[in-house]
Amino acid sequence: MTQNLRPVDRLVVALDVPTAAEALALTRALSGSVGMVKVGLELFCAEGPALVRELQKHAPVFLDLKFHDIPTTVKRALEAVLPLNPRLVNVHAQGGPAMLEAAASAVKSHRDKGGHTELLAVTVLTSLDREALAAVGSTAEPGDLALHLARLSRDCGVDGVVCSAKEARAVREACGDGFRLLTPGIRPQGASVQDQARVLSPAQALREGSTWLVVGRPITQAADPVAAAQAILRDMAEA
Ligand code: C5P
Repeated sequence: MTQNLRPVDRLVVALDVPTAAEALALTRALSGSVGMVKVGLELFCAEGPALVRELQKHAPVFLDLKFHDIPTTVKRALEAVLPLNPRLVNVHAQGGPAMLEAAASAVKSHRDKGGHTELLAVTVLTSLDREALAAVGSTAEPGDLALHLARLSRDCGVDGVVCSAKEARAVREACGDGFRLLTPGIRPQGASVQDQARVLSPAQALREGSTWLVVGRPITQAADPVAAAQAILRDMAEA
C-alpha cells in the first residue's frame, strides 16, 4: 500500500545531469538512500533507453517524459517505453480526457502482463503563472486549474498527479487516499531555494499528503549527496 511507504521509498532524486556517467555515479552512490531516480527529457534525449536499463540495476526509475500529443501517439509512445518497466511514467493532464484514457489503458495493459508501472499526470507546470495561462487563453487560477485537472486525471483512470506540495492537501481531499501525489519544489530547512518560488520542507510536504517527494539540487549539488539524502530522510521521519 503506497500510503504506508517508508521515508526512503518516498524520496525521488532528480538526475538533472547531462551525461550517463554522472547519472550512474549519483545513482550508485545514493542506492539505499533514495527510493527512486528521476530521468527527465534532457537525460533521456541524450542517453536513451540504454541508460534507463543500466540505472534500474541500482534503483527504480521515474521516466519523466511528460507526453502530450493526440491519444494514439501518446499510447504508442508509452507502449515504446513501458517494456523498460519504469516505476513511474507521466503525461500532461492538459492533453484531455481521451488522451488520459488512452495513456491509462496502455499502462493497465502493461500491468496486466506483470509490469509495475504507475501513471501520473502533470497538472499545471509551476512555470505557468496566471499571466502565462492568460496568454494561452485560460482565465483560470493555476491552483484551481490544477485541482480540476487532478479530478479529471483520476476520473480517466490515471494513478496520480504531479503537483505543487502547496496544492497537495486540496488534491488529496478531492481525489482520495489511494491517489498518488508526487511533489517537487522541496527544500530542507536552511537549504538554498534556487529558482523554486514556493517551497516546502520534506516533513511539511508529507504532512500535506504527498506520496513521493522529488528533490534535485539539494542532493545532487551537495558536497556529500548521501549525507544530504540521509538528512532529508531524518526530516521525513518526523512527519
Ligand atoms: O533541483 P530541484 O529540487 O529544484 O529539482 C526539482 C526537479 O523537479 C527538477 O527536475 C524539476 O524539473 C522538477 N519539477 C519541478 N517543478 C515542477 C515539475 C517538475 O521542479 N512543477
